[in-house]
Amino acid sequence: MRSLVFLFVIIFQSHLFAANKENGAVLYKKCQACHGKEGLGKKSQKAPMLAGQFDWYVKAQILAIKSGTRANNNTKKMMPFVKNLSDSEIEDLAAYISSMPRLK
Ligand code: HEC
Repeated sequence: MRSLVFLFVIIFQSHLFAANKENGAVLYKKCQACHGKEGLGKKSQKAPMLAGQFDWYVKAQILAIKSGTRANNNTKKMMPFVKNLSDSEIEDLAAYISSMPRLK
């Protein structure tokens, strides 16, 4: 019985910690203006293509932009959109972005 409870706790927690791609899609609406609806980027905004990028890379870049370790004139434009993102929201965005098809 005790091991059943233990198993349940593990399953429940892994669900809690898994990135939520659907939430990432909702959060991504704020990113569309510059990175495009389908994540293909916008030359006019100097915003790079994100679709299909690896989730770990997306996370690392958002964290670097947010913390100011990746700072230049272009990343400054992004600051208002990332400064209030929580770690789990960044996970969700990375899961959604990496799931977008890279090529049409
Ligand atoms: C105001 C325009 C703008 C908005 C809105 C914006 N970005 Fe960006 N983003 C940029 C620009 C410009 C760059 C390129 C920065 C550089 O030149 O280093 C960038 C870079 C990135 C990168 C790094 C890409 C790479 O290949 O290294 C990621 C990841 C990213 N943005 C994610 C997001 C997410 C997620 C959101 C929404 C929460 C978002 N951006 C909203 C303009 C924007």
